Amino acid sequence: MPNTFVVKNKIKKFNKTISVNGDKSISIRWLLFSSLASGISTATNLLVSEDVLATINSIRKLGIKIVLKKKYCKVFGKGMNGYKYKENLTINAKNSGTLARLLLGLFANTNKKIKLIGDKSLSQRDFKRVIDPLKKFGVVFDLNKKKTLPLKIIGPEILRPINYFENKGSAQCKSCVIFAGMRTKGRTLIKAKKSRNHTEILCKFLKLPIKIKTQKNFDLIEVNEVKNIKPLNYKIPSDISSAAFFITLTALSKNSKIIIRKVNINHSRDGVIRILKKMGIKIFLKNKKIYKGEKIADILVKGSTHIKSINCPTRLNSNAIDEFLLIFLVAAKAKGVSNFRNIGELNQKESKRLDWGAKILNKMGVRTIQTQNSIKIFGNPNLEVKKKIVIKDYLKDHRVFMTSVVAALSFGGKWYIHDKDSINTSFPSFLKILDRFTLQ
Ligand code: S3P
Repeated sequence: MPNTFVVKNKIKKFNKTISVNGDKSISIRWLLFSSLASGISTATNLLVSEDVLATINSIRKLGIKIVLKKKYCKVFGKGMNGYKYKENLTINAKNSGTLARLLLGLFANTNKKIKLIGDKSLSQRDFKRVIDPLKKFGVVFDLNKKKTLPLKIIGPEILRPINYFENKGSAQCKSCVIFAGMRTKGRTLIKAKKSRNHTEILCKFLKLPIKIKTQKNFDLIEVNEVKNIKPLNYKIPSDISSAAFFITLTALSKNSKIIIRKVNINHSRDGVIRILKKMGIKIFLKNKKIYKGEKIADILVKGSTHIKSINCPTRLNSNAIDEFLLIFLVAAKAKGVSNFRNIGELNQKESKRLDWGAKILNKMGVRTIQTQNSIKIFGNPNLEVKKKIVIKDYLKDHRVFMTSVVAALSFGGKWYIHDKDSINTSFPSFLKILDRFTLQ
């Protein structure tokens, strides 16, 4: 089948230097902020993937001009109230939860009804998490009983500032409320469990009226009405969530070595590095720099022979939220039993990722004990897969596909992994980069 990726051989030892694509979270946020700016913003190294193209198409439908030439992008922002569109406009967020949830924050005061739709996976995901706080601002929704997409949103003329407690560790919920707060007169107060903080970093860099107090497990964020955003020229750093596939491939490959250049290692995103280091993987950060408030470094990883099991500290969960499928693979090769707790949020992603993590491991012959919110993985340092494994019907979750490829190349067996076009969501060059490893 043309859309099935077949792996029949384990990867051989390698020593490579690679670059991966621009960061998805930052690419989407840069586009949204630029669409509100007064003037022209430019970016280089924008991630050109389906989630980001869905963002560009959505913004264009709001009457904002965008020019995209390869990874170079120019957005002709028309100010905070510059969106122009007709009643009953339909916006398609496709597969992107980030786009859909952040846009709802920006639409909080829309005086014309907007319909938000998504693909099969996004249409099964939870939107109550953003609908509830937006209703407190005074936003009105047309909804189905399950509170999923498609939905219609219409805002009141004047939004009411709210107090909001974000307790899931979801950056999408937090950012949605920050965006709605930016459109509201008065003080919106957010107490948010720690999660990726690219929105706040951009707000700070743009000198927007937002104050952040950092506490041990929470951030207190005060958002005031934003009247004007200056255009922002940006060089998007590489995505640690894409780098993670190659970090893991290297960690599981004895005597191999990799350098991944100029990756965003923002503290709220570097959980995969911190967790794998605790498991004994040799990871070094070189050439560290700060760029517009974001930390960048080259990541050097060496293949390991002795991997330790982990009782994963729950405080790292949101820092590694998109990388757990990969961390589970490393746990499968560890000596001893690994424990991951409070990770039920994984089942809220593009597919039920906690279930898929267990399914992939079980297919490989690895024992797991799973609850709704946790997983125990019984590692085996000598793990070898010899059987045929088929991975399909996973709602085209890009991370399930790429994790399965890493598992196949690391543990052996004959793998038939369906829906290889799923990589276009976040990491279109994944298989091309991999060719450089397998065709050496
Ligand atoms: C994202 C936040 C995370 C993450 C997603 C991207 C973002 O989701 O899983 O891939 O860019 O804000 P949650 O905020 O729902 O945890």
